[in-house]
Amino acid sequence: MKPIGVFDSGYGGLTILKEFIEVLPQYDYLYLGDNARTPYGTRDFETVYQYTRQCVHWFFQQGCELVILACNTASAKALRTIQQNDLLQTAGRKRVLGVIRPTAEVIGNYSTTSHIGIFGTSGTVQSNSYCLEIEKFFPHLSIVQEACPMWVPLIENKEYDKPGADYFIKQHVDNLLKQDEKIDTILLACTHYPLLVQKIRKYISKDIQLISQGNIVAQSLKDYLSRHVEIEQQCSKGAIRNFCTTGSTVDFDNHASTFFGSTVQSAHVSIL
Ligand code: DGL
Repeated sequence: MKPIGVFDSGYGGLTILKEFIEVLPQYDYLYLGDNARTPYGTRDFETVYQYTRQCVHWFFQQGCELVILACNTASAKALRTIQQNDLLQTAGRKRVLGVIRPTAEVIGNYSTTSHIGIFGTSGTVQSNSYCLEIEKFFPHLSIVQEACPMWVPLIENKEYDKPGADYFIKQHVDNLLKQDEKIDTILLACTHYPLLVQKIRKYISKDIQLISQGNIVAQSLKDYLSRHVEIEQQCSKGAIRNFCTTGSTVDFDNHASTFFGSTVQSAHVSIL
């Protein structure tokens, strides 16, 4: 088996995997959530790189030829170094892709005012990766960002739909919108955030569209596989999905369905 590896610091990548299965159901997928070390969003560059590198190495040991970092923070802080340093030392055709580039390639198409806002983790926002990538495809776009360090903990602790969450959601929505009143498109640049859509909607005008990445990244993977036949042929196609976590399997199985849409049974793995 050579499943496509899908990685996140916790549960958020399941929102991406769900879309992969929708668009590309024929492939085998192996999901890993590094729940024991989540969140990544508030950690420094070196730590996110080391954690992500260890997890990518684990995927390679499991037989994955293609690994998707379904985590913006890992894509922002670790992907380039992994591609430039670690993959060069790995024999064969192994590939690691992220979620920022495919999103940056299309996000400008959603806006009519050319003013967009981005919500992300502190790590993603501070890296400035979105601004740098989007600039390559849509140089005319005006972009403002807001880091939301409380949102992932609210989600990972299942507090995201409780009344207490409203305080933190409204605070960041207000901070973003007051930076630019012409925003007509907001990108949820964290794979956890699709769970907050209903609450965010409460605090923004209905003229503003909220964009989650899942389908964008899935369409981009489909396109990538059609252009890279040598990689596509390596990926096994038995429609098997396996789930692993570095944390508690009981917690993972209890929480995962909220993100994935159906129940899962995970296995525990140690990554070092
Ligand atoms: N889901 C991850 C992302 O897309 C972040 C979660 C975390 O902070 O660990 O950035």
